[in-house]
Amino acid sequence: MDFKSWSAERAAHFELCAKKALPPENRLPWKLHEAMRYAVLDGGKRIRPLLAYAAGDLVGAEEEALDHIALALEYIHSYSLVHDDMPCMDNDTLRRGKLTTHKKYGEAMGMLTGDALQAQAFFELTQTKLPGEQISMLVKLLSGAAGSTGMCGGQAVDLLSVHQKLDLETLTLMHRMKTGAMIRASALMGLYGAKTMPPVFLVGQIAQYADSIGLAFQVIDDILDVTADTAVLGKTAGKDAAEDKPTYVSLLGLDKSREMAQNEINKALEALKNIGEHSAEYKGKTQRLSDIALYILSRDH
Ligand code: IPE
Ligand code: IPE
Ligand code: MG
Ligand code: MG
Ligand code: MG
Repeated sequence: MDFKSWSAERAAHFELCAKKALPPENRLPWKLHEAMRYAVLDGGKRIRPLLAYAAGDLVGAEEEALDHIALALEYIHSYSLVHDDMPCMDNDTLRRGKLTTHKKYGEAMGMLTGDALQAQAFFELTQTKLPGEQISMLVKLLSGAAGSTGMCGGQAVDLLSVHQKLDLETLTLMHRMKTGAMIRASALMGLYGAKTMPPVFLVGQIAQYADSIGLAFQVIDDILDVTADTAVLGKTAGKDAAEDKPTYVSLLGLDKSREMAQNEINKALEALKNIGEHSAEYKGKTQRLSDIALYILSRDH
């Protein structure tokens, strides 16, 4: 199966899982449940679930476990988008081609939607049939990626840096935290979806792979903010410049930013090559992960 068909199939499968797993709209408080479903369903590229499925396949993880992991990741990610769009953060009205959640349901519901999705994410992890040791590892990975040393921390640096010129080191750290941390967790959590612990060398190489694609992902996000159309992006283009956000493009320009993203993707592919060379067991099984890396570079939204 080629990457396009595989990713479409996985995304459709994920959608079904999420439809079943999210609290139904007819359960009280129905408005909040409606808003949670609105924030998660019907939209997004589902990159984090795809990463978890692809990494999980590498170690023979069962789909049942990967589904819960994918849900947990996408709940945290969707919550981060809902809050990121609120007036106190980026103040956006369009997300995934629809009105932002707070625009549709009001700011209080927007805030609570994010809060509730975050709790629901950790609930999902308790629903896997994995050994306790693995579940505990999953909680550790997800909480670390979502919290003040990961996504939330990166968002804080982002907001505290408006109207400032960051140096490359600080900007890179911000990107690694606000976006890279959840991308890293997505790939690593897939590895812990199997019933046995993954080998240390594999965790190390997948972490390197994911760190590189995670940084590249946010660099491309910065580039698309400048080069893409709102209609294709599904979110308002040109927002970073309008808000005077420090981005790769504002610091390095478009060409240098593209070059940086390409370098990171090359590093990611190198890490995958190391996996195949180190162990015959995984040789030829990293295709999906390399497809995802290339997709991140070539995506148009
Ligand atoms: C957007 O993430 C925010 C960033 C972390 C850069 P995505 O580009 O993955 O958004 P969706 O999920 O596809 O809408
Ligand atoms: C947000 O980065 C990253 C998150 C953790 C949500 P951006 O603010 O650049 O994301 P977009 O461009 O609004 O999707
Ligand atoms: Mg933001
Ligand atoms: Mg934003
Ligand atoms: Mg952006």
